[in-house]
Amino acid sequence: MPNDNVQWAVLTGASRGIGKETAKMLAAKGFGIILLARSQKALSVLSEEIREQGGKSHYLSIDLSKEEEIADAQSFFASFGGKIGLLVHNAGIVKVGAVANMDPADWQTMQDVNVRAPFLLTRLLLPLLARPSQIIFINSVAGLRTFAEWGAYSVSKFGLKALADTLRQEVAAEGIRITSIFPASVDTPLQDTLPYNWERKNMLRPVDVARAVSYCAEQPAHVLINEVHLENNAGIF
Ligand SMILES: NC(=O)c1ccc[n+]([C@@H]2O[C@H](COP(=O)([O-])OP(=O)(O)OC[C@H]3O[C@@H](n4cnc5c(N)ncnc54)[C@H](OP(=O)(O)O)[C@@H]3O)[C@@H](O)[C@H]2O)c1
Repeated sequence: MPNDNVQWAVLTGASRGIGKETAKMLAAKGFGIILLARSQKALSVLSEEIREQGGKSHYLSIDLSKEEEIADAQSFFASFGGKIGLLVHNAGIVKVGAVANMDPADWQTMQDVNVRAPFLLTRLLLPLLARPSQIIFINSVAGLRTFAEWGAYSVSKFGLKALADTLRQEVAAEGIRITSIFPASVDTPLQDTLPYNWERKNMLRPVDVARAVSYCAEQPAHVLINEVHLENNAGIF
């Protein structure tokens, strides 16, 4: 297992979309990347690509909606020997629908992946993180305001903001910085799952969010960036 001077970054939702782009950018900046998602194939291809470019990468196939899978990952993370300096909570899912029609199972899965998993993973990793270190939460404009049919997602993302804001107060003295990034719509595979016909060309690109993550990650330990708001020209979304 890793035993060198590289600083490692744990990145969830790394198999596609914003996560994949962020992984490539952070690797190019010199971070070793620990890629997390369910799709083993996509992770192994990306990991290989990062290594071929001269970067360092490991991956873990994990279903973040399952508490026992997160708990089981403890020894995997511990094997990085306290050299994890960045944790990016990026994995997220959306299923839209009016409150009146929302399937309670879909509601629950969104809470499990979007806010419970970041809580569980943070709790697991806090004792293993380097000092100083940094935790970045990929939130959403829907974590700041509500939209019809986006209730379940907004509940999870408002909760994610509350988690980040609370954590910031609890760990600042230990030298752990907490950032929430709130993008408007981003042209990723997530958009393919939505029942809307939105114009994609004015949306943010995954690389725009990756750049924001990378900018935050490169700041020295005395610079605090609590929030980044990324808007676009596509309208509200
Ligand atoms: N796209 C947008 O318009 C937009 C706007 C604002 C904020 N965001 C936020 O940005 C983040 C990334 O979104 P994206 O647009 O890049 O989405 P995406 O293309 O659908 O990618 C989602 C990622 O999350 C992972 N994931 C989903 N369920 C998981 C689970 N149960 N366990 C582990 N990993 C899981 C997926 O990997 P596997 O399927 O392989 O598990 C995938 O890597 C999300 O938090 C999203 O809410 C997106």
